[in-house]
Amino acid sequence: MDIDVSKYFKPNLNEARKRSRKDVPHDQFHLDEQLKTIGHGKKYLIDTYGCQANEADGETMAGILSLMGFEKTNQEKEASVIIINTCAIRENAENRVWGELGRLKALKRDNPDLILGVSGCMAQEENVVNRILKKFQHVDLVFGTHNIDQLPQYIQTAMFSKERVIEVFSQEGNIVENLPKNRNHTKKAWVNIMFGCDEFCTYCIVPYTRGKERSRLREDIIEELTELKSLGYLEVTLLGQNVNAYGKDFKTNDYTFGDLLRDLDTVGIPRIRFTTSHPHDLDLKTMEAIRDCDSIMPFFHLPVQSGSSSVLKKMNRHYTKETYLDKLKQLREIVPGISVTTDIIVGFPGETDEDFLDTLDLVEKAKFEGAFTFIYSPREGTPAAKFKDDLDPQVKKERLYKLNELVNQGYLEGNQRFQDEVVEVLVDGPSKNNPEILAGYTPHQKLVNFKAPETYIGKIVKVKIKEVKTWYMMGEIVQ
Ligand code: 5AD
Ligand code: SF4
Repeated sequence: MDIDVSKYFKPNLNEARKRSRKDVPHDQFHLDEQLKTIGHGKKYLIDTYGCQANEADGETMAGILSLMGFEKTNQEKEASVIIINTCAIRENAENRVWGELGRLKALKRDNPDLILGVSGCMAQEENVVNRILKKFQHVDLVFGTHNIDQLPQYIQTAMFSKERVIEVFSQEGNIVENLPKNRNHTKKAWVNIMFGCDEFCTYCIVPYTRGKERSRLREDIIEELTELKSLGYLEVTLLGQNVNAYGKDFKTNDYTFGDLLRDLDTVGIPRIRFTTSHPHDLDLKTMEAIRDCDSIMPFFHLPVQSGSSSVLKKMNRHYTKETYLDKLKQLREIVPGISVTTDIIVGFPGETDEDFLDTLDLVEKAKFEGAFTFIYSPREGTPAAKFKDDLDPQVKKERLYKLNELVNQGYLEGNQRFQDEVVEVLVDGPSKNNPEILAGYTPHQKLVNFKAPETYIGKIVKVKIKEVKTWYMMGEIVQ
C-alpha cells in the first residue's frame, strides 16, 4: 500500500546538519485547561533507552502526561499510552527498539485504542521514520527531541482523530522552561543546562538528533536547583552533550561553565555532578571551580575516544594523545585525587594495530578509574559511515576484550585507594544483588555496599571501607 506522507513532518538530515546563527528564544510551558483531564482514568508507560539526557526527557514526558491526568503504570496491558523513548548512538541500541516495536504489534491488535508512540534520537533519523511509516503501521505517534513540549496536542490528535501523528523537526526550536517533571528518584535529580552539540565528531549522530548547542539561562538553572534543594534533593547531575561548551552561545556575556559551577555551589545542594565533557572545551576556569567548590564532586568523565592522534584527527576531536594527557595532568594538579573515567571506541575505520597500541598506552598513562568501551558502529549520515572500514570484526572484538582487561584493572586500582578510608555515601537503596545490604555512591562515584537498616536510605552517611573489589567496595557504617 502506498502511503501519502506529504501530511507528515519528517526529519531531514541536510537540515539537521545546518547551524543557524539565530538567537534561541526562551518560552514557558503552558497546558490548556481542556487538556488537563483527557488522561483521567487512563495510564501511561514510558520505556527509555540511552543516555541521561534521554532519561531526563522521559521524566519530562511523564510529568506532562501526569499533568494531563494520566497515571503511571509498569504493565503494558494496562496502558492507554506507551512511548518508546529511543537512542540512536549505536546499531545495537536501535535493534533493541525495532525488536520492541515488533513485539508490541500484538498488544496493539488486542487493544486498538492504545496510543503507541516513538520519541527520542531515533525519531530524529530520516531512515527510521521512513521505516516506521512503511513497516510499523501500528505506531500512532512519532515526535522528536525538539518538540516534547507539544506532547499534549499530539496525544489529543492521536486520541480523537485516530490519525497517525508524525511530527519531527530537524532544527531545534525554543528552549522551553517550566516543563513539569516526574523524577524517578527523590534524592538525585538530572538538570539540563544546555542542549545540542556542535562538535560534529565524524562517528557521532548526536549533533543531528539533538540540534545546535544552546544554553539555558543561568537564572533558570539556579531556580531549578533552588527548588530541588527545598524538596530535599541531595545530588544534582548537570546535563549537556558537552557541558564544557555551556554559555558559548551567549552573545552578550562571557559567562561559561566554570562561572555556572561557582554560582550553583552557593545554592546548597550537597552534591553536584555533571556530564558529559569534551576535552577540547575543558578550561582552567572549570578545573579551578571544581577545586574551590565543596559541592562539586571530585569526579570527571572525560571521553578520550582513542589514544591514537591520527585516529583522533579522523574523528575530528581537536586534540592529540599528548594534549589530552597534558590536560589530564593539569586537572590532577589542580584537583588532586580527582577520579577520572572515559569513553573509548575501538575499531574506528582504518584503525591499525599501532593505533590500538596507542590507545592501550594512553589508558595506562591516564590511570582511568573506569571506562565505557565500544566497538565503532557506523551511523548513516555521519561522515565516518563513508570511511573505508575493512577491519575484520573478530579483530575489533579482540581489541575490545584486551582494552577491557586494562580498563578493569583501572577500576580496581581506583577502588583500592579507598581501602580503610572513611567515605561519605549517599544511600540509594538495597543492593541489586542482595536486598539485605544497602548500596550507594561516594563523592568519587564509587559504589559501596554495607549492612544497615533501611532508615539510612536517602541519607548521606559515613562508611569505613573494609574490602575492595573491582566493581564495588564493602564497608561498615561509622557511628
Ligand atoms: N559507535 C560507537 N560508539 C559511539 N559513541 C558515539 N558514537 C558512536 C558510534 N558511532 C560512543 C562515544 C561516546 C559515547 C556516548 O558513545 O564513546 O562518548
Ligand atoms: Fe543516545 Fe546520544 Fe541520543 Fe543520548 S543523545 S539518547 S546517547 S543518541
